[in-house]
Amino acid sequence: MARTFQHHVLVRQEHLNQYGSLFGGVVLRVIDELAFIACTRTYPGCNFLTRAVLDAEFKAPAYLGDTLEFDFGIEHVGKTSVQVRVEMLIYDGRGGKGIPSFDGTAVMVCVDDEGRPMRVRG
Ligand SMILES: CC(C)(COP(=O)(O)OP(=O)(O)OC[C@H]1O[C@@H](n2cnc3c(N)ncnc32)[C@H](O)[C@@H]1OP(=O)(O)O)[C@@H](O)C(=O)NCCC(=O)NCCS
Repeated sequence: MARTFQHHVLVRQEHLNQYGSLFGGVVLRVIDELAFIACTRTYPGCNFLTRAVLDAEFKAPAYLGDTLEFDFGIEHVGKTSVQVRVEMLIYDGRGGKGIPSFDGTAVMVCVDDEGRPMRVRG
């Protein structure tokens, strides 16, 4: 990843599923927002839509009170698309090493005012 960004989220009650662990949809919403932020910070003036999330894998569950660390950055720039790699680690509040929990790659497409793909401008 060329330029990396970082974001943290505290797991709260409203993030939990019926099993008491973190709901996957929360993670997908966050990575969608983070991919958008990475693209618009890097390519100001471009409008981006999410085209796909590739290789999304949930590897370990998070629980109430855990801190989620998202490390993300642009991995590939094409003609109209930008791929943003997102990795998430869990910290359980007792210190120690982060546990890899999620990774995936969001494909964002730069679009014009009519929503048609256009070349990414640096
Ligand atoms: C995003 C959108 C404008 C793209 O238009 P499109 O005509 O379908 O264009 P394509 O997706 O085929 O190609 C655009 C780029 O995406 C890339 N792409 C598309 N699907 C991909 C995939 N599964 N993996 C990797 N790259 C992909 C293409 O390679 C191309 O990249 P390049 O120009 O850098 O070579 C259109 O598909 C759309 O409006 N989708 C809905 C978006 C949306 O509502 N998202 C949710 C809310 S943000």
